[in-house]
Amino acid sequence: MKSIVRYQSRGGNTKAVAEVIAQALGTEALSVDNPVTEYTEVLFLGGGVYEWKMDKSLLDFMEQLSPDKVGQIVAFSTTGATDSTLKQIRKTAEEKGIVVNKHELLVRMLLHGHSMLGLQGGRLTEKQLEKVRNFMDEIQEEI
Ligand SMILES: Cc1cc2nc3c(=O)[nH]c(=O)nc-3n(C[C@H](O)[C@H](O)[C@H](O)COP(=O)(O)O)c2cc1C
Repeated sequence: MKSIVRYQSRGGNTKAVAEVIAQALGTEALSVDNPVTEYTEVLFLGGGVYEWKMDKSLLDFMEQLSPDKVGQIVAFSTTGATDSTLKQIRKTAEEKGIVVNKHELLVRMLLHGHSMLGLQGGRLTEKQLEKVRNFMDEIQEEI
């Protein structure tokens, strides 16, 4: 099963989660600056939440996706609290006819690594790491 990982991250939190996901898959996490160039069965796709929305670079990345490039998306997000980027990924993909797995990963950071407050992102707690690893164990059984 060919799986790839793409993320959008302003402050480093989503990048850190993407790297744990990629490690579990034995692949590399790349930013959304890297378009999908060949067909992939599973695209792990994630981003942060900024003023209740996904970053425009993530939306731009999704614009070039289509069902003949991606079998399914597994969505993930880091957030202060809300799941709006997960919802937006799902809605944008479904409008394009791309399947989104019913399982998704939301890592709540609260103020941890909140870049707007000048807090350095990218350092996950043990609990957050465990959540990502558990999610990967489950999703890899399914896909
Ligand atoms: C400018 C800015 C706006 C944010 N707005 C929200 C928000 O509306 N809702 C929320 O739950 N979290 C919000 N957050 C928190 C981020 O979603 C959270 O820190 C996330 O981990 C950022 O991911 P990143 O470090 O990969 O950029 C905001 C953070 C920043 C820097």
